[in-house]
Amino acid sequence: MDDNQADGLREAMKEQRRSKRPLRVIGVTSGKGGVGKTNVAANLAIIAAKQGQRVLIIDGDLGLANVEIIYGLRPKHHLGHLLSGDITARDVLAAGPCGVKVLPAGNGLQQLTRLDDGQRLRLVTALEEMEDDFDVVFLDSGAGIGDNVLFFIGAAQEALLVVSPEPTSLTDAYATIKVLCQDAGVRCFDVVVNQAGNEAMARDIFQKLSAVAGRFLDARVRWLGWIPRDENVHRAVMAQKPFVELFPSSPATRALNGVADALLNEPPPPQLSGGLKFLWSRLLRESRAA
Ligand SMILES: Nc1ncnc2c1ncn2[C@@H]1O[C@H](COP(=O)(O)OP(=O)(O)OP(=O)(O)O)[C@@H](O)[C@H]1O
Ligand SMILES: [Mg+2]
Repeated sequence: MDDNQADGLREAMKEQRRSKRPLRVIGVTSGKGGVGKTNVAANLAIIAAKQGQRVLIIDGDLGLANVEIIYGLRPKHHLGHLLSGDITARDVLAAGPCGVKVLPAGNGLQQLTRLDDGQRLRLVTALEEMEDDFDVVFLDSGAGIGDNVLFFIGAAQEALLVVSPEPTSLTDAYATIKVLCQDAGVRCFDVVVNQAGNEAMARDIFQKLSAVAGRFLDARVRWLGWIPRDENVHRAVMAQKPFVELFPSSPATRALNGVADALLNEPPPPQLSGGLKFLWSRLLRESRAA
């Protein structure tokens, strides 16, 4: 086989993999801070990896308990280094547990609003390279619906909304759906109620959210599941290990396995477009327009 044929075969295999398993980009968000986004994203990523999926988690959270902390990582590089051309795409990825790869955004997210053409090209090329390496990408963003978070989640194809039982969490979640729906065109929201006392309470919160979203907005919210308040989550954060690894039979792990089944084994909503490249090109376009 000559080089051209080998290239052709490689491309055909990539294409086949892509058509079998389209890359899913899932943005994890919430209205209120501290409801459990990072824990949900970091642990869902582990479950997906254990199911044999190739998983990337983009850590856009500059807060204290970010994905790196939960995985016990101290990455040397972040997106900012990639943008300045110091390192290659693969060097920016840190190796998390169970084969999950982590892309620390660092201050790179802020830089997206002022990239020159060289940086933009470097980013798009790098992301094209990564595209074929993964089946699912989770985006963990900081709290609130500031511009960067809005771009970030709006450019993802699916939004996973984490809500907690506190009364303000519900109104904040509604506000987030509204902004993402009206300003970023997100129409489908998968809801996880975290830190609930019991399932009835969790479902009640979901029903309320679903009712207002259905009545006032052109948005569909889908019940994905609930996670009980479980001290093991906090213990695992303190130990810098994902709770699904440290406490595999805890109530939180059992519940998150149910959430993962609903999210990963159900057909995803109709795809908007193609994966990571789409995500970043949209991020860049929007940030340039801002
Ligand atoms: N199911 C749970 N049971 C008990 N405690 C929980 C649960 N989920 C989250 N927590 C606690 O809440 C804290 C905040 O969680 P996490 O950092 O995942 O929230 P976040 O939404 O990512 O916060 P931020 O908005 O600051 O990024 C955790 O450190 C943990 O102590
Ligand atoms: Mg967080």
